[in-house]
Amino acid sequence: MTDVPEINVPALVAAARKARLNAHAPYSHFQVGAAVLDERGSVSVGCNMENAAYPLGTCAEAVALGAMVVSGGRQARAIMIVAGGERLITPCGGCRQRIAELAGPDTIVYCASDTGDTIESMRVEELLPNSFRL
Ligand code: THU
Repeated sequence: MTDVPEINVPALVAAARKARLNAHAPYSHFQVGAAVLDERGSVSVGCNMENAAYPLGTCAEAVALGAMVVSGGRQARAIMIVAGGERLITPCGGCRQRIAELAGPDTIVYCASDTGDTIESMRVEELLPNSFRL
């Protein structure tokens, strides 16, 4: 049997909230934080990182997934996204494809309010049905 790391949802909310505080979002002023739990049980975080050349901006999820990969993680088990306040946001289309690339069949995507009191969860297949794969 393969070991599957426990998903500590409050810890993921805390990690994503902390990462969000470092967001570089001087153009939209919309700060996002993300935390990814991988198959090793390690948590990688990301925040959005905008650019004066607007299309070069990077979403929090992309930064967190990159941090997971560079630290040696291969598959996301859970992804937490926090946008501040009561607002829940789901990943943009591009990040849905990024998530699908690094997800397993049971990967869960969580969207939480800043307090962590409201949390929604969804499967990657719901977010991006029939995703492109090579
Ligand atoms: N953003 C994210 O980081 N993640 C999302 O899921 C949606 C949007 C960022 C991109 C941009 O820096 C800002 O939020 C406004 O769109």
